[in-house]
Amino acid sequence: MTSSQFVSRWRGADLGLPIPEERHAVSVCLPRWRDNVGYEEGDPTVTGAMQCGYPRFFFHPDTARLFAECERQLARPGECAIAFPSEPVARRCAEFVARETGALVRVGAGFDGRVHAVLMPLAARDTAKAFWQHAGEIIPSRQAVALLEGHVAADGARAKQLLRERVAELQGCSAEDVYLFPSGMAAVFTAYRLFQRLRPEQRSIQFGFPYVDNLKIQQRLSRIQAAENAVAFFPRGTESDIDEVARLAATESLLGLFVELPGNPLLGSPNIARLSELSLRQDFPLLIDDTFAACVNLDTLPAADAVATSLTKYFSGAGNVLAGSLVLNRERPYYERLKTLLAEEFEDIFYGEDAIVLERNSRDVAQRIPRINANAARLCEFLAERPEVADVFYPARVDRANYERHLRPGGGFGGLFSVVLRDAAAKTERFFDALQIPKGPNLGTSFTLCCPFTILAHYRELDFAESCGISRHLIRVSVGLEDSDWQIERFAEALRECW
Ligand SMILES: Cc1ncc(COP(=O)(O)O)c(C=O)c1O
Repeated sequence: MTSSQFVSRWRGADLGLPIPEERHAVSVCLPRWRDNVGYEEGDPTVTGAMQCGYPRFFFHPDTARLFAECERQLARPGECAIAFPSEPVARRCAEFVARETGALVRVGAGFDGRVHAVLMPLAARDTAKAFWQHAGEIIPSRQAVALLEGHVAADGARAKQLLRERVAELQGCSAEDVYLFPSGMAAVFTAYRLFQRLRPEQRSIQFGFPYVDNLKIQQRLSRIQAAENAVAFFPRGTESDIDEVARLAATESLLGLFVELPGNPLLGSPNIARLSELSLRQDFPLLIDDTFAACVNLDTLPAADAVATSLTKYFSGAGNVLAGSLVLNRERPYYERLKTLLAEEFEDIFYGEDAIVLERNSRDVAQRIPRINANAARLCEFLAERPEVADVFYPARVDRANYERHLRPGGGFGGLFSVVLRDAAAKTERFFDALQIPKGPNLGTSFTLCCPFTILAHYRELDFAESCGISRHLIRVSVGLEDSDWQIERFAEALRECW
């Protein structure tokens, strides 16, 4: 297998092109370090070149056209529109925007009630866009095209059933306990809302430094106004942090505990066995986000009340559809309560044509992952031995015993790692620019993909990220299926160019 079967798109001239090269791609080529900074700064030479982006962060041009059409049909002078796939979602966004901005916000139905638009003054638009990003209950680009072109879309019922069965088989549960969503964040946000309904006034625990929106949901979408009172955050996720959680749980009732296994972007694995036991003893629900376990490596469900997975990543592997799953554990005490609440709360807003694409993409997930595991392990070994490299963060190298406790037979350490160079401030930009692999957001694809993760996820809080041990110079690499030698040579060649 050679790289030519996969996506090239690493050159400066490729700035803004979709990765992969198709209309509904969910990543975009940001090939140089300065392009990533420019994107974060809103530099028009970068944003103007972007033909797409990660769809929760950057409105796909087809989705943006749908918003424009909603505006034309529904907006009053001075109003703008962001559309959502159902009325309850639009109302959640409207309530969030009204609370955060104090603006006059309303909801209007368009396209014969198939979309609901939040209509608001232009000044409130960024806040509605933040809801779109954090909550992930989005209208994907395929749905926008179908609505705009008026074509009748497949309902995807058969694909959704197959997907539920496939996820159930991977998670070791019944298909009845698998719920599908238009993104990984929508799955987490739904779990958060269920926990909120059980304990409306209580704060949550975020254990370990999480993917950006896992924390934002708990900070911004809580009913508790001040973010610091809404969530107790333990960025390092250590054993003594578990002692502290135990002390908290003994004195107050908790909304729930959220933890990633392994974590993003340092790939650490907290002591889930201890957290799980604590959650049973102190009676709070526990949610594991197992996205980086790549669907086949770890068995996390026995330790949790619910597991959320971004199916956008390894499950899909193709980088052309967003999706998520939430799975409930029948053996845990919260099962009946969560099931009953989901019967009221759950709406199937996962778009049928996306389900059909995802079903096709995910047929070979169990075959893809072992090869990705092997490639990543080998590349990490190579980099860890190089004198130019300061740190390689990979589950086999950090908190290994905690990770291994959940390994499935034949499971591995995944395809994702982060790397920090020696003399990082002076060397990183040149190294990144020289690296001849695709560069953009997203992970879990069959082709290798990397990004300056701290810049993309935490540009406005770099000091905070560094205070949590996450270098601003960190590069996150998602290893694909190409020849291992080819992958190693790409990194070796970039190192040669900088030293
Ligand atoms: C650990 C983790 N959980 C959840 C998500 C969200 O998934 P999605 O983008 O499908 O909403 C991501 C990345 O985006 C992630 O890295």
